[in-house]
Amino acid sequence: MRLRIDGIDRDARQDESLVDVITRHGGSLPHVCYHAQLGAIETCDTCMVEVNGQLARACATAPADGMVVSTVSPRASAAQVEAFDRILSNHLLYCTVCDNNNGNCTVHNTTKLLAIDHQRIPFRSKPYEVDSTNPFYRYDPDQCILCGRCVEACQNVEVNETLSINWEDPNPRVLWDGGSTIQESSCVSCGHCVTVCPCNALMEKSMLGHAGFFTSLKKSTLKGMIDIVKGVEPETGYGAILQVSEAEHAMREHRIRRTKTVCTYCGVGCSFDVWTKDRHILKIAPEHGPANGISTCVKGKFGWDFVNSPDRLTTPLVRQGDTFRPASWDEALSLIARRLSDIKAASGPDAIGFISSSKCTNEESYLMQKLARAVIGTNNVDNCSRYCQAPATMGLFRTVGYGGDSGSIADIEQADLVIVIGSNTAESHPVIATRVKSSHKSNGQRLIVFDLREHEMARRADLFLHPKPGTDLVWLNAITRYLLDHGLADSAFLDQWVNGLDEYRTSLEPFTMEEAARITGLSIEALQTVAHEIAQAKRVCVLWAMGVTQHNQGSDTSTAISNLLLVTGNYTRPGTGAYPLRGHNNVQGASDHGSMPNNLPGYQPVDDPQVRARFESAWQVALPKRKGLDNHQMVDAIHHGTLKAIYLIGEEMSIVDSNANYVGAGFEKLEFFVVQDVFFSETCRFADVVLPASPSLEKEGTFTSTERRIQRLYQVLEPLEGSLPDWRIIQHVANHLGAGWNYQHPSEVMDEIASLTPLFAGVSYKRLEGYRSLQWPVAADGTDEPLLYTKHFAFPDGKARLFPMSWGGPTDQPDSQFDLHVNNGRLLEHFHEGNLTYRVPGIREKTPDTWVEVSPQLAEERGLQSGTWVRLISRYGQVRVRALVTDRVQGRELYMPMNSSEIAVNRLTSSHTDAATNTPAYKETSVRMDVLAEVGESPLPRINSRFGHPTPQKGVEVERKWKRPDYHIPGSQFLRVINR
Ligand code: SF4
Ligand code: SF4
Ligand code: SF4
Ligand code: FES
Repeated sequence: MRLRIDGIDRDARQDESLVDVITRHGGSLPHVCYHAQLGAIETCDTCMVEVNGQLARACATAPADGMVVSTVSPRASAAQVEAFDRILSNHLLYCTVCDNNNGNCTVHNTTKLLAIDHQRIPFRSKPYEVDSTNPFYRYDPDQCILCGRCVEACQNVEVNETLSINWEDPNPRVLWDGGSTIQESSCVSCGHCVTVCPCNALMEKSMLGHAGFFTSLKKSTLKGMIDIVKGVEPETGYGAILQVSEAEHAMREHRIRRTKTVCTYCGVGCSFDVWTKDRHILKIAPEHGPANGISTCVKGKFGWDFVNSPDRLTTPLVRQGDTFRPASWDEALSLIARRLSDIKAASGPDAIGFISSSKCTNEESYLMQKLARAVIGTNNVDNCSRYCQAPATMGLFRTVGYGGDSGSIADIEQADLVIVIGSNTAESHPVIATRVKSSHKSNGQRLIVFDLREHEMARRADLFLHPKPGTDLVWLNAITRYLLDHGLADSAFLDQWVNGLDEYRTSLEPFTMEEAARITGLSIEALQTVAHEIAQAKRVCVLWAMGVTQHNQGSDTSTAISNLLLVTGNYTRPGTGAYPLRGHNNVQGASDHGSMPNNLPGYQPVDDPQVRARFESAWQVALPKRKGLDNHQMVDAIHHGTLKAIYLIGEEMSIVDSNANYVGAGFEKLEFFVVQDVFFSETCRFADVVLPASPSLEKEGTFTSTERRIQRLYQVLEPLEGSLPDWRIIQHVANHLGAGWNYQHPSEVMDEIASLTPLFAGVSYKRLEGYRSLQWPVAADGTDEPLLYTKHFAFPDGKARLFPMSWGGPTDQPDSQFDLHVNNGRLLEHFHEGNLTYRVPGIREKTPDTWVEVSPQLAEERGLQSGTWVRLISRYGQVRVRALVTDRVQGRELYMPMNSSEIAVNRLTSSHTDAATNTPAYKETSVRMDVLAEVGESPLPRINSRFGHPTPQKGVEVERKWKRPDYHIPGSQFLRVINR
């Protein structure tokens, strides 16, 4: 399109607003409420322009061919100034003593842009107190310009639906749950609102008093200074005041650092700038992340206090009897080298095992497996994807060829139908959940949820189905069979792209709808409804997580999902595909980079001589030929006396592995155990040597998120004195064992990975600079694949494979002695057992402990209430825990979040595993419940967001503002030519 803007011909695209077009061409149109990722909000009116002679908001105007636009006509200029005058009547300009004076304050910058010297509408204080009740951020109504960005972000991006503006009130303000304090509201502290606020009305508490040179002054002094600033305004005008504040801002530039990192918590892969002043984290600023944009959850936005915790390990520790003593790095490393060498000499390399970390970087995973294979000579190396993701990977390997999400988060957003199976997405992968919630709320996306619990996604779903525990395989197969039997399969896709239909179809014979209804407890009608929804939807994505994988047929159920997608042609196209949601930040990358007993980096099998030859030539060693032990087998091997030593990094294995009592008993039998971590974890208690590592903010490297996205993290802080990044420690261990490695920077490790691994051939730090990212496979020329299988599936003939199905039934079933099923999983606020997040005071305040969820029916039957202590006893162990009565669970099904080291759910779980991958069947656990005499406080304080009452609405609802009697479109009442 061609437009004429201020007399010059300009091009425009269909997906742009007029504001975008004007700013892209270097124009300086004011726009306060508009935010590219929120779209037009239309509350501020500062972007008024003349379009074909009429006043219009540029943010809400789509460009059209031949359009004539003036941004500087007398009428447009007058409208812009009048609109901004109204904004200043809601905001005290005291920039020099404001923590938001960092060059990015929209109000400050617009004052300057419009060359405002004096405001015509005087500032009017609002009759409300500042709300500082939330531990992470505060709201100052007097500074709030009522732009509604926060409301839009909360309602339509995060879709927590907490915020609104009471437009009809004489003194409108932002409301939490319609008028609650922030602390008592449904606010989940995701930070979206704070991130998008264009001024200082919403601010991170970590900024307050820390960002500016004069902002840490006492409140009374600060008020005096604000009064001085305001006092000189009538005489000097804002120009002079802004000059002073800009000088102060320039001084800040020298001491505030902004460093890009990638979130250390879950596998969504959010990235953001970390603002720091020395070691103080001022704020997390998400904006450019390819996975998240402005989005975060509470952990990524506010969960970083652990980095400066006094509990950090800052020296190696060596066991001395039942305690530990500090040791020098040299002593600890020499001891490790001596003991590992002795054990290798006495019992062979396979007497040693290595556990890598999915919190660590790709480069660290690579070095860990290189240490195991090339220095010690064993394939006994694994990572915690064994505990969660291996079955999903297996299901995809069997059917489509690559063990990763088949598309991107953007594809999930575009789907017409999203099916979520065994995933508490809103708590475990919060930012992915925002995309589903948002598409569902605003774009008509259909949502079907299969789960045991009625969690947030289930409550939002168009259809929520609750099958009996461990029976997903059956309904998946029955629906697929129904689609094939009723001519609802995509036969053209099957003909062109898929092998193995006949054998697969035969295997489906037992999976009739009647049989599925009998086994799953779901009605035939419900299953048929789902089948028809799938058949009718043009684009279907299936999201699944540990509710599927952590079963004895986790691999088969994951395979069944992929089979269903193949039968319905839901691969290869945008908006379709298979999305196993990866748990840890780098659980995908840990396996991708070879910390697996059967694969070298890039899923290259250890028993392939050609593959081995390539690595042997590069590493100049002979490599072990047979596949090694996975971490489940390692524990058995310790008990059998064949595994004598383990070197483990960043993994709380003693309580996150299933059947924790058995694992702990194994660790006690080890001859030598090295644990490397940021804190003295539960697992450290079993160690002989503990090595102090640095967390992600203190190192360089790359992580790979759930959408196969490789992203760089930059060092935000120096490693805390005494600790070291894991890659340096692994290199020290290797060199004390005589390896002679000399990596100076993780980029050199990545270059080596790329040279040996076709999957990552084109990956380099240069190509990943800043916010650039690559989604594997990455060809040598740097071409990546956000959507897989667009040309062919990852098998030699390019065709996918339907994999035959059979049903065995879950293990560890309830009986008369153990009569209840206990499910478990993550919680929004804490990551996993909480080793990092319990060191964040705000998170601790909101969510101080764990609990067991009990249904109202069962609570009544057993005579208990929230806060009653109960003892859960399984066939493998017991825990004492407080009950939380909630209708999220039903009948005789319990749920225990895993956010506790002391009350670890894995004291209850078994050693049953998925046959194909050895992933523990965590979700197949039966218990009995003894109600104890003690009744305490509810384990969930009233200030937890789960007690809030959201106020869903379409967005900021600006139409209600326009209906106010005191509102008129600016520029329509007075016309002034201003000098710009
Ligand atoms: S949930 Fe809370 S922190 Fe998140 S956008 Fe809404 S009000 Fe803001
Ligand atoms: S608090 Fe909300 S409405 Fe007020 S200025 Fe900030 S983003 Fe705008
Ligand atoms: S925990 Fe996950 S969703 Fe939350 S900010 Fe980090 S990567 Fe994003
Ligand atoms: S930027 Fe257009 S109305 Fe606010």
